[in-house]
Amino acid sequence: MENVQLSNQVNLSFEDRGSGPAVILLHGFCGSSRYWQDIAPKLETSYRVIAPDLRGHGGSSVPDEPYLMETIASDISLLMDKLGVDKAVLCGHSMGGYVASAFAGAYPDKLAGVALIHSTSLPDDEAGKQKRTDTMESIRKDGLEPFIEGLIPKLFADHSLEHKPAIVQQTIDIGNHTPPLGAIRTAEGMRERIDRTLVLEKLQVPVLLVAGSKDKIISVDKTFTPEGSHIYKHEINQAGHMSMMEYPDELIEPLKNFLARCY
Ligand code: MLT
Repeated sequence: MENVQLSNQVNLSFEDRGSGPAVILLHGFCGSSRYWQDIAPKLETSYRVIAPDLRGHGGSSVPDEPYLMETIASDISLLMDKLGVDKAVLCGHSMGGYVASAFAGAYPDKLAGVALIHSTSLPDDEAGKQKRTDTMESIRKDGLEPFIEGLIPKLFADHSLEHKPAIVQQTIDIGNHTPPLGAIRTAEGMRERIDRTLVLEKLQVPVLLVAGSKDKIISVDKTFTPEGSHIYKHEINQAGHMSMMEYPDELIEPLKNFLARCY
């Protein structure tokens, strides 16, 4: 892992491998760059693949302020500047997709494409916002482990829970390494995010939406909401919320086809 200072408060850890057009992989809530361990090596042969730990996660800084999706998007823009990357395809898993959508709203000229993987352009509804507040309180009170324990069965398709225990265990380990303050501040930022359906519909670059038919967190219709001739939709039949770890071979193919359209 490499490390870069973005500001007085924020250092980001990141992987930077391969060469060619840039692809930036953004992990989800309580994840890390390790979420992409099966995907990154398959892209590095043709692309420069950059996978950061987002603020509050993995080895990156944990500033004590709400992490709005716009703020995390600004971290990514600064990271690109520091690494001399003018344009990239941003691929965001779940919360990483919320960040990629915020990035699309703020820095469209720095994009060659956007992929949302098990994510949505929609904001939280009122019940969802209340759940974020409950999550923040429960992590503050009981720490992160009980939250991760409750989250894991929702992340994976039942078949994966039963037949892929090593991957499930890895996800638990990554989750439990998240600094509790980072998780709290991220939940707060996700609660405040706005509807970015129009941002994606008006984007001048290709957009890929990947959904898992067994996703218990973000349903296929919520992933597939944006419409347009530049928007490509792909459903992975057996996957839950974690295709990059559950079914990497089924994700890599649509992703490679999409990257070939972007560059
Ligand atoms: C994620 O995997 O990033 C989360 O499930 C996103 C969310 O809680 O909305």
